[in-house]
Amino acid sequence: CGIVGYIGKAPAPRVLINGLKRLEYRGYDSAGLAVIEDGKIIVSKAPGKVASLNEKARSEWPAERFANCLSGIAHTRWATHGPPTEVNAHPHLDESGEIALVHNGIIENYRPLRARLEGTGHHFYSETDTEVLSHLIGERYKGDLFQAVCDALHQVEGTFGIAVVCAREPGKIITARRGSPIVIGVGDGETIVASDASAIISHTRQVIYLEDNDIAIVTADNVEIRDLDRIPVTREVAELGFDAEAAEKGGFEHFMLKEIHEQPDALRNAIRGRLDFNLGSSVLSGMGTSARDLAEISRVVMVGCGTSLHAGLVGEYAFEDLADVHAEVQQAAEFRYRNPLITRSDLVVAISQSGETADTLAAVREANQKGAFVMGLCNVVGSTIARETGRGVYLHAGPEISVASTKAFTCQVAVLLMMAVKLGRGRRFSRDEGIRLAREIESLPELVEKTVRQSDKIAGVAQRYAQNEHAFFIGRGYLYPVALEGALKLKEISYIHAEGYHAAELKHGPIALLEEGTPVVALAIDIAGKDKTLGNVEECRARGARILGVVTEGDEEAAAFMDDVIEVPRCHPLVATIPTAVALQLLSYHIARHRGCDIDQPRNLAKSVTVE
Ligand code: G6P
Repeated sequence: CGIVGYIGKAPAPRVLINGLKRLEYRGYDSAGLAVIEDGKIIVSKAPGKVASLNEKARSEWPAERFANCLSGIAHTRWATHGPPTEVNAHPHLDESGEIALVHNGIIENYRPLRARLEGTGHHFYSETDTEVLSHLIGERYKGDLFQAVCDALHQVEGTFGIAVVCAREPGKIITARRGSPIVIGVGDGETIVASDASAIISHTRQVIYLEDNDIAIVTADNVEIRDLDRIPVTREVAELGFDAEAAEKGGFEHFMLKEIHEQPDALRNAIRGRLDFNLGSSVLSGMGTSARDLAEISRVVMVGCGTSLHAGLVGEYAFEDLADVHAEVQQAAEFRYRNPLITRSDLVVAISQSGETADTLAAVREANQKGAFVMGLCNVVGSTIARETGRGVYLHAGPEISVASTKAFTCQVAVLLMMAVKLGRGRRFSRDEGIRLAREIESLPELVEKTVRQSDKIAGVAQRYAQNEHAFFIGRGYLYPVALEGALKLKEISYIHAEGYHAAELKHGPIALLEEGTPVVALAIDIAGKDKTLGNVEECRARGARILGVVTEGDEEAAAFMDDVIEVPRCHPLVATIPTAVALQLLSYHIARHRGCDIDQPRNLAKSVTVE
C-alpha cells in the first residue's frame, strides 16, 4: 500500500493525488484522501485506481475551494482485511470525525480492541483493522495529537506505517513506523511524508528515513522525531540518488517495457567497478568481509520471495559450481517458522528488490538472532532490509515501478554471479579462470541488448500463444529457475495459468495435463543439458503439445524440434540465465499486451508486500 502526507504551500489535494499516482504500483484496489478545510476534515475515497479517486475528488471539489487546503494525507490500498470497497478504503476517521489516519501494515490485535471500543459506544463502518487505530487515537485525544498517537500505538500489536491529521491541529502531521516504511521529504517550506521516496522526489531530494518505533511531528518547516516513549532521537538527512524522470515512463507504453529495455544499462550499473581483471575476482566492498571471513563461510543460504526467490535459485547453482560452497535457497516466509539450522559460519543473503518485503525482513531478523553473517541484496537504497543487515550489495538498477519485476531480477542474478566469483576465487579457481568469468559477466549488457532487439519478433510469436489459457515452462540446470521465473511472469501479467517445471519432472505428473496444442515453452539453449531437454521436448510433442523453444541463435538442430522459436545470443552457461530470462519477459509482456491486460498493475498484486 502507499501513503502520502503533505503539509506546505501548495494545494494539498493536488500534491496528494500526484503522490498517489507515483505510489500506485504498491497497491491499487482503492484510494482515498483527507484534507483539512476551515477546521474540518474532508474525506474523499473511491474503489479502484487513483484515477477514479481523482475524478471523484475533482467532481466533488472545485479547484478554487481547495487552493487553501495546505495539508492532508492520502492512501492507495492493497486489501488485507475486508474487500476493496469505498468504505474500507483509507483514510479512516475516529469517532468524532476530527482525526483521520492512513495505515500500512496489520494491527494484529484489532479484534479485542474493536470489541472493547464498541462496548464503550464507538461505531465502526469498515471491516479493516486500521479503523481501530483511528478510534484509539480519538479515544486518547486530549488536545495533543502527538501524545494521543503515542498512547494508541502502545496498545497495538503488529506492524504499521501511519500518517495522522487532526482538524484541531491543522498545521501538523504525525507519522510513525514499525515494520512498514516511512520516509519524510524535507522541502523548502513544505514537508512530504510517504511510504516510499518515489512520491517525494519531485519535491525534494532531502529525506529522512524513520526507524522502527520512531514517531515524528511534521510541520511545513520542521520535523521532530522521538521514540514511542517520547524521547527525542536523531535521524540523519539523506540525499536521494535518483531523478524524478527515472520513475517516469519516458515514451514507453508501459513501465514494464521500459524496464525491460533499461536492462543493459541497469546491468552496467550493477557491474560497474565491481569486476577486478587484475585479480580475476570481483570487488563487492559492501559485503564487508575479509578474505579470512570469506574462507570461513561454510554455507550460503539465500532467502527471498517471488522473483527474488528465483534469482536465489540461480545463485544456488553458481555458488556450488564456482565456489565449492554448499548453497541453498529458502522461502523467506518459511524461514523463521521452521527453526532453520543456521550457524555462525553461514552467510545468509536476503534478496529483495524493495528491501521491504515483510517475510524477507523477518528472515533477516531470524538469521541475525542465530548469529549468522547476514547481508542484503537490495535495489532500494536506504530500505529496511538494507539498513538492518548493515552490509550487502546494492543493485543500482534504478527505480523499478512495474509490479512484475524484470531489471531487478537480472541485476540480482548478475550480483549473485559476482559474489560466487568472489567466493570462488578465494577457494577454488585460478586468476586466469577468474578473469575469464569476469569477462563473461562483463558481456552481459551486450547480450541483453541483442536479446531486447528481438522484441518485435517475440511480439509476433506471442500473438500465436495469446489465446491459450495454460502453459508450461521447462528447463534444467541453470535454466530451471528461469523456467520458474518465466511461468511466474506470464501468470502475473497475462493471467494465463502457467507452471514452471524441471524438464525431467514434467513426466512425473504434469504431463497428464498436456492436450493437443497445450503450449510448452522449452528452454533449450546450447549449454549443458540441452540434449536431455530436447528429449523431454519430444515427450511433450508426442502428447500433442505445441512447443515454443528458446534456443541459441543459429542452433538449427534445436530449432528443428520446435513449432516456434525465440533466439538468444550464444553465451557462456554461467551468464545464459540472463538473456534467456529477458526473452521470457518480452514473451510475457507481448502476450499480456495482445490480451489487453493491465500490464503495470495486474489484478490482486502489489509491488511491495509489507505484510506476512
Ligand atoms: C511481490 C512482487 C513480486 C516480488 C516479490 C518480492 O510479490 O509482486 O514481483 O518478486 O514481492 O519482492 P522484493 O521487493 O522482496 O524483491
